[in-house]
Amino acid sequence: MSETDSLKQESRMFEPPADLARNAAISGMEGYRTLCAEAERDYEGFWARLANENLAWHKPFTKTLDESAAPFYKWFEDGQLNVSYNCLDRNLQNGNAGKTAVIFEADDGKVTRVTYQELHDKVCQVANGLKSLGVKKGDRVVIYMPMSVEGIAAMQACARIGATHSVVFGGFSAKSLQERIIDAGAVAVVTADEQVRGGKQLPLKAIVDEAIGMGGCEHLKSVVVYRRTGGNVAMQAGRDLWLHDVTANQPATCEPEFVGAEHPLFILYTSGSTGKPKGVQHSSGGYLLWAMLTMKWTFDIKPDDIFWCTADIGWVTGHTYIAYGPLAIGATQIVFEGVPTYPNAGRFWDMIARHKATIFYTAPTAIRSLIKASEADANVHPKNFDLSSLRILGSVGEPINPEAWMWYYKNVGREKCPIVDTFWQTETGGHMITPLPGATPMVPGSCTLPLPGIMAAVVDETGNDLPNGQGGILVVKRPWPSMIRTIWGDPERFKKSYFPEELGGTLYLAGDGSIRNEKTGYFTITGRIDDVLNVSGHRMGTMEIESALVAHPLVAESAVVGKPDETTGESICAFVVLKRARPEGDEAKQIAKELRDWVGKEIGPIAKPKEIRFGDNLPKTRSGKIMRRLLRVLAKGEQITQDVSTLENPAILDQLKQAQ
Ligand code: WT7
Repeated sequence: MSETDSLKQESRMFEPPADLARNAAISGMEGYRTLCAEAERDYEGFWARLANENLAWHKPFTKTLDESAAPFYKWFEDGQLNVSYNCLDRNLQNGNAGKTAVIFEADDGKVTRVTYQELHDKVCQVANGLKSLGVKKGDRVVIYMPMSVEGIAAMQACARIGATHSVVFGGFSAKSLQERIIDAGAVAVVTADEQVRGGKQLPLKAIVDEAIGMGGCEHLKSVVVYRRTGGNVAMQAGRDLWLHDVTANQPATCEPEFVGAEHPLFILYTSGSTGKPKGVQHSSGGYLLWAMLTMKWTFDIKPDDIFWCTADIGWVTGHTYIAYGPLAIGATQIVFEGVPTYPNAGRFWDMIARHKATIFYTAPTAIRSLIKASEADANVHPKNFDLSSLRILGSVGEPINPEAWMWYYKNVGREKCPIVDTFWQTETGGHMITPLPGATPMVPGSCTLPLPGIMAAVVDETGNDLPNGQGGILVVKRPWPSMIRTIWGDPERFKKSYFPEELGGTLYLAGDGSIRNEKTGYFTITGRIDDVLNVSGHRMGTMEIESALVAHPLVAESAVVGKPDETTGESICAFVVLKRARPEGDEAKQIAKELRDWVGKEIGPIAKPKEIRFGDNLPKTRSGKIMRRLLRVLAKGEQITQDVSTLENPAILDQLKQAQ
């Protein structure tokens, strides 16, 4: 039975635990429907009420939604607030000053606790430090940091002074970093000497140097370096400064810069279907509102919870559910520097037990790799750990297959924790379609129903609604507060990518396919409908990898497709034509390795193709179009049953069956 068939037939339903449902922020399906009805009845009134109840406004807004320049929507535009004030100062006033904000666990197991007061003071010092370097409201700051309190503090410090941050994941290469520094026009980079993952020290500052050395970064004035390991780094006088020097003698208070609700809080680059990554621009007011509300609704966060999101701050999950959401709601959260498999694959379960985590949010790819690890070594199986503190589990980043869902539910949640399978994207700012832990009966493999106020639907290629049971294109029919505002520096691309004319120009196109269950109306995400791959929850454009490959002097042409993978969801399979004869045997292996390393340098290790296949040519139609459909079949190792009569050169299909 194929995955899709097994999803269609998936009929097991799991009710939320009764005691959790009773006390939940959204209690029972009645509670859910009441909120949905409120949003249906008075859309703007619904969002205005929530924005007034949840955020501390410096100056209240008078207009909720401005659609006059659609699809460039504006929310709460004349209202003013400061995101860092909402996350920190508000907690000091609420009696949370002495409450632990962050339980930081380093790669080597060392634990540091930081209270809201301490975090506030640190953020203010970093904010003052950045100001002393001339960073001001509206400037862009690139953050290239390991998982750390300092990384979060750098983000919050930018928010405090009204600078727009752009966090670049520490696994990206110098080239990718350089492109982002240039595109954002950053005036400063905040980084660390090195990062520590899985017992290894990996360079960060050296990569920043390499990125700047590639040129084009003249707008960059300062590089601020957090000393994490004490490893040897070169410091360039007049440009590079240690974070501890920049913050020394800075006061522990810093008047927040109150900004308009639409002020860009951050830009986060993500992959699209063309070669160049898109700088997704988010707002301050609408974004923070949704970060907070989804902490309440999806995670049912309570004052005593110990929340743990295992994402990296380099991805949107780490923005919304580490750097902003948990702080805005005054929660205690675990922040983890390392990797799930070090010192062994029991690390997550051990940490949940030691810190008594109550809400655990991770990715299907991590779950699948830990299932494998516990099959190989019984000692790292979750049954060996006391996981009784857990009350809610979450999944994010890619579809979770029913088998992994069941394992997670039984072995980690011990059949008493609801799993929130949260569908969302970098562009959506926060959760969109997800079960509510105290309301929604769960079906493994389905993200179930949209959150109140999120008008998700499945439509055909012309934008018409499809009936339940019929697969189509996932769209959102109305703007929502935390949606992407534009692509930094490229408003035309924003319009074309997300509000395409073919769908009528008013529907938000998520880029995923979806089908709704005939009986329940539940959504199941069937995967991307564009040339975007999802490898271990990391989003990558096939064109991005193809451009990297053809930049290599040996490569004439390449086509990249996704191949289903048991652990990583999808893996990267690259078909390559060289400028010289097709290599075979050891030579082919050696060139394949060289190309993999090359892609690692061009984009980052996560983009390295798992398989490389060489051919004298690629399968093309007579008009010269690459037949990707065939390549996907070849990548899977399946027989080609399709009609290949339009193919110009059928013989090369045999060559492309062989992987290096
Ligand atoms: C793409 C967005 C969501 C934040 C992290 C990834 C896929 C994400 C789910 C889910 C099925 C999912 C989609 C989406 N995706 N969550 N629960 N079920 N698919 O953000 O890098 O912007 O990727 O991830 O394909 O479009 P991202």
